[in-house]
Amino acid sequence: MGTQTIRPRPGDELQLTIDSLAFGGAGVARLDGYVVFVADAVPGDRVLASVTKSKRAYAEARATDIVEPSAQRIPPAANHPGAPWQVLPYERQLEVKQEQVQEALTRLGRLEHFTLEPIVPAVEPWRYRNKLEYSFGADEHGRLICGFHVPGRWDQVVEVTDCLLASEQANAARERVVQWCRTAGLAPYDRRSGEGFLRNLVVREGRRTGQLQVRLVTGAGRLDRDGCSRAAQPADGVLWTRTDAVAETTQHGQTELLSGTDRLEEEIGGLRVRIAPEAFFQTNTEMADQLYGLASEYAELSGFERVYDLYCGIGTIGLLVSPRAAEVWGLELQEDAIANAIDNARLNEIDNARFFAGDVRLALRELTARAGNPDVVIVDPPRAGLSQKVVRRVIEASPRRIVYVSCNPTTLAPNAAQLTEAGYRLIRVRPVDMFPQTPHIECVAVLER
Ligand SMILES: C[S@@+](CC[C@H](N)C(=O)[O-])C[C@H]1O[C@@H](n2cnc3c(N)ncnc32)[C@H](O)[C@@H]1O
Repeated sequence: MGTQTIRPRPGDELQLTIDSLAFGGAGVARLDGYVVFVADAVPGDRVLASVTKSKRAYAEARATDIVEPSAQRIPPAANHPGAPWQVLPYERQLEVKQEQVQEALTRLGRLEHFTLEPIVPAVEPWRYRNKLEYSFGADEHGRLICGFHVPGRWDQVVEVTDCLLASEQANAARERVVQWCRTAGLAPYDRRSGEGFLRNLVVREGRRTGQLQVRLVTGAGRLDRDGCSRAAQPADGVLWTRTDAVAETTQHGQTELLSGTDRLEEEIGGLRVRIAPEAFFQTNTEMADQLYGLASEYAELSGFERVYDLYCGIGTIGLLVSPRAAEVWGLELQEDAIANAIDNARLNEIDNARFFAGDVRLALRELTARAGNPDVVIVDPPRAGLSQKVVRRVIEASPRRIVYVSCNPTTLAPNAAQLTEAGYRLIRVRPVDMFPQTPHIECVAVLER
């Protein structure tokens, strides 16, 4: 197409028909073959969209008005920036996720001859998250609000009074703390000027233990510690993190325990685990159980294997498979998480699992030198997947089987492709819906040499 003549520019308003959904959840529309990714639109919609970014090969836009709604649309349950796919029936969400895993593996990874098993649907379509990170802001009257960023707007917050992804007890805790902040006259942090105090509120829950943790994240300033702590009751732990980070993050500040304990406890796969405030834990406890069950099934352990659990977090996967392995070696970047993993092994009387803090990129060779070559490697990396170098290191370690737990099929695909070039075969893959009402996709894959 003559992209020079009709390539849209930022700010342009276009009328577009959405024909599919892209990875990450945007609607896909075509202008004479030129692709426009449209946020807040689903297949079948005819929308007015405002262009936010324009490149040679594609543009990005946001739907500002629905001219003709798709026949697939259902009414949203709530205005919730964290649940963009709630306008699609749940069955349709599952179909799209299944198709996107298939497409990533076959088109991006050019993989073939594997079995794609049907997606495991979520047990709870709403109120499934055990952790929510809210942001503070102000409404147009200057009133303190707490909720989520408007998609694509780092400086604007939409108030959420009943977050449908959180449990009722977690919602009530947030509301009590926000009300107290209002009464105490605390100001939200202004993301443009860097002034103000209140940045985020993190509410975390042990879904099976009923425990609750509330962590207030602020900039520099004074806090009435007792007042804040009382407002959060009956939380099991109340924490205060101070940070001067420019980026919107709840990590790496200075954290102080205001009351109770800083270790949240949860039950998963029959284990009792402790989780440090900044350590990763799968956000959907119920579905994490199923995800781990699949990872364990795919590992096909017989009791004699040496297993590596790479990107092990607080050790959950390694500890779960440990009764069917000879030994488990876990590696994870975050020291707090490793301290939890060691503690969790002790708490569950597991004595064949060892955990080390280190960067997989740098420490994997060292681990192999120390522990010996693994029979089975389990990896569960962040969304960016494994770097090519890490894949080479895994190949060098030469496991018979690799179980890959992935939260992003578009990075799983090239990683699996690189492994198949080195002599592994992708055997089977199964998506698990950990994140209903959102475009996020989790899956487990197994490769064998
Ligand atoms: C998706 S989480 C998985 C954690 C764990 N397997 C679980 O199920 O709870 C990814 C983990 O990788 C860790 N991580 C990120 N980059 C890493 C690196 N370069 N080396 C080691 N661990 C890393 C993160 O801290 C996080 O705990």
